[in-house]
Amino acid sequence: MKKQTIIVTGASSGIGKSVAKYFLERGDNVVINSLTHDKLLQTYNELAPKENIAMVSGDVRHKQTGEQLLAAALEKFGSADVLINNAGIFDTKPFLEVDENYLDRFLNTNLKGTFFTTQAFIPQMLKQKEGVVINIGTPIVNHAFGGFPTTAPLSSKGAIHSLTLQLAAEFGRHNIRVNTVAPGTIRTPMHEVNGEDVSYKSAGLTLLNRVGEAEHIAQMVYTVAKNDFITGTIINVDGGMMAGRNL
Ligand SMILES: NC(=O)c1ccc[n+]([C@@H]2O[C@H](COP(=O)([O-])OP(=O)(O)OC[C@H]3O[C@@H](n4cnc5c(N)ncnc54)[C@H](OP(=O)(O)O)[C@@H]3O)[C@@H](O)[C@H]2O)c1
Repeated sequence: MKKQTIIVTGASSGIGKSVAKYFLERGDNVVINSLTHDKLLQTYNELAPKENIAMVSGDVRHKQTGEQLLAAALEKFGSADVLINNAGIFDTKPFLEVDENYLDRFLNTNLKGTFFTTQAFIPQMLKQKEGVVINIGTPIVNHAFGGFPTTAPLSSKGAIHSLTLQLAAEFGRHNIRVNTVAPGTIRTPMHEVNGEDVSYKSAGLTLLNRVGEAEHIAQMVYTVAKNDFITGTIINVDGGMMAGRNL
């Protein structure tokens, strides 16, 4: 398989870290990013082989971070083949308590981070005459749960799903593929409360009666990156949580 350069945002922990490791283990070059420099450095030190990794800490809310990631990919590896917009945040708050600052946290990190990081990379992908963008969404944009108040994060994630389809439409003729992988409940630090994992509480929502692991998502992201005929799709990896509920 052709060696490629993969850029992963939000790679200091959870899904992003597992995705970075998965590509590295299969011989690709990987540029990792996350917000907190020390956390990213710790992950950088854990991953191997070093000659295949570069790191750029920075906030995806700023387009310059995307531009710095692109510059690092080109300088160290000479191409930017697959962008994985994984950096993201999630939280719950009843709709009537959501103020503008709270909503903006999700729109800025999840939606605008994905939007402008992608905008930083597409010109290079056009030059290369090929490229892949994989966004990380969530199946629950199409699965309403009473008692799980998530209007703010889901407004941002739903927009990522729409953005995915429109980008795939605008750039398909340029051989740029754009897809979203939508994880169900995956055991990551996002589900820790006071350092304790509480993801298992969602196991009953799946047909398999268990939550997923970050590597389940890495496997799908890798497949979507390497399969040259997948574009414009939203792919759930959710243990059957959405079975019978797809819109
Ligand atoms: N886990 C699940 O059940 C689940 C389900 C559906 C979707 N997802 C999505 O999967 C993605 C990864 O989630 P996860 O569960 O792996 O969470 P996680 O372990 O909390 O990791 C989140 C990552 O995003 C980074 N990040 C947050 N804000 C950022 C910013 N402004 N700029 C750059 N990096 C930023 C964090 O960086 P630092 O910590 O280094 O600051 C961290 O590396 C997210 O988009 C999430 O919405 C997760």
